Amino acid sequence: MLAGKRVLLIIGGGIAAYKCLDLIRRLRERGAAVTPVLTRAAQEFVTPLSVAALAGEKAFTDLFDLTDEAEMGHIQLSRVADLVVVAPATADLLAKMAGGHANDLATTLLMATDTPVLCVPAMNVRMYEHAATGRNIAQLTADGVRFVGPNAGDMACGEFGPGRMSEPMEIVEAVQGLLADGPLKGKRVLVTSGPTHEPIDPVRYIANRSSGAQGTAIAEALAAMGAEVVFVTGPADAVRPQGVAVVEVETAAEMLSAVEAGLPADAAVFAAAVADWRVKGAGASKIKKVKGKLPSLEFVENPDILKTVSQMKKGRPGLVVGFAAETDDVIANAVAKRKRKGCDWIVANDVSPETGIMGGSENAVHLISEEGVEDWPRMGKGEVARQLAQRIAKALD
Ligand code: CTP
Repeated sequence: MLAGKRVLLIIGGGIAAYKCLDLIRRLRERGAAVTPVLTRAAQEFVTPLSVAALAGEKAFTDLFDLTDEAEMGHIQLSRVADLVVVAPATADLLAKMAGGHANDLATTLLMATDTPVLCVPAMNVRMYEHAATGRNIAQLTADGVRFVGPNAGDMACGEFGPGRMSEPMEIVEAVQGLLADGPLKGKRVLVTSGPTHEPIDPVRYIANRSSGAQGTAIAEALAAMGAEVVFVTGPADAVRPQGVAVVEVETAAEMLSAVEAGLPADAAVFAAAVADWRVKGAGASKIKKVKGKLPSLEFVENPDILKTVSQMKKGRPGLVVGFAAETDDVIANAVAKRKRKGCDWIVANDVSPETGIMGGSENAVHLISEEGVEDWPRMGKGEVARQLAQRIAKALD
């Protein structure tokens, strides 16, 4: 619930702006107050009158409206909210934000605000896939801006692909995740998730069967309890968690760099199934098939991210949680792994094919700490995530 919270909603100039009318209703139903701001282009798609009527508040449009300046300066307007939501975040708005422009009311507010910002991208698929948009989103993510969506599907322009704005309820969920008052409010938690892909050549890679489901559920559970979550994921099948900063990587080396860039954190949860080895000298040319001759691959060890962070002399998170995916002697292996890596807890699970855990929706884990071993009953991965988040909250209290 969002009672007592205020959202500054910046509506950008895209056809998806019409969804903001419903978004305002859904936010208000949950108790949030909404202060709407429309860019000039947004007013071509929805009118300030309909936005103001649904918000029950004045819709702001102009930086140089002196009445507004007298009633509420633009700096003050940028500070009244608990969260700024930019929807639709068009390619142009994202570029202006990434470049630090401030030439109208919306961009000036975004530069002046000291509250978290959630962007909801919406644009043509080619524009979304354009290198410039990718650069701008990466820059904004590094600056701490959060994203929800876009979704893939049929677009108003007749094309198909990623670029559709998230639905109002998806945005509401992300807003709730960011504004949730919970025991982890004010805490920053880093989560790794998914597999890594290690290239053999430009078209082949080595990977593993991790779906990213457990890591995603943990990130969502931590965010729902109020944590600021940095989610570093390899190429996983699981839908990206809502309301958290997502950093996408491919290889173990990239994951380590992203983790180091994501620190400091109060806690870190390493749920990724990182490839232990990479192919030495994976080159830019495709290995050709030669009849009667099998290629031989030479491996080199990947950095152990969990171990590196657990053994950091400076800036180690207060609580470091690793996972152990085992097929034999689960407990004994996991107890030894906790010592070897130097982490505080290990969440151990049996990933033998007959358990159906890898790629499935349930998990049966053992929580191993200095105090000993706790056996948790088999339950949904969401429930494992919620119970783990509760334990993390208790440990950080
Ligand atoms: N891990 C990591 N970096 C690696 C390998 C593993 O951060 N290069 C982390 C995983 O995210 C997990 C934990 O270490 O939290 C255990 O990973 P696992 O693959 O089960 O253990 P290994 O150290 O690879 O040991 P083994 O393969 O012998 O079981």
